[in-house]
Amino acid sequence: MKWIDAGATTNLLDGQAISIAAGRRMIAVARSGEAYYAIEDICTHDGAELTGGAIEGAEIICPRHGARFCLRTGEALSPPAYEPVRVFETKIEGGHLWVRAD
Ligand code: FES
Repeated sequence: MKWIDAGATTNLLDGQAISIAAGRRMIAVARSGEAYYAIEDICTHDGAELTGGAIEGAEIICPRHGARFCLRTGEALSPPAYEPVRVFETKIEGGHLWVRAD
């Protein structure tokens, strides 16, 4: 596992998610209020990128068919997705957001 620099926290707006590369994997880094999250950027229903989805509290809504995922746990909260997405640990250091990914 290694820490990946996702950029300055000031670059991520409240309610926004951006996609960062971690090797061959894409990770959606999201901010809701003062909380930061990192989840795999692929919907378990049909493979859409989650980064274009709305963020409501600690949930992100898939922009393709509307499945909701918990940003804390990755759990699928509503159909048509049933399988969770993977979540990654985050930390803030030196004003940057870091994501722990393999
Ligand atoms: S691809 Fe995400 S809900 Fe269908």
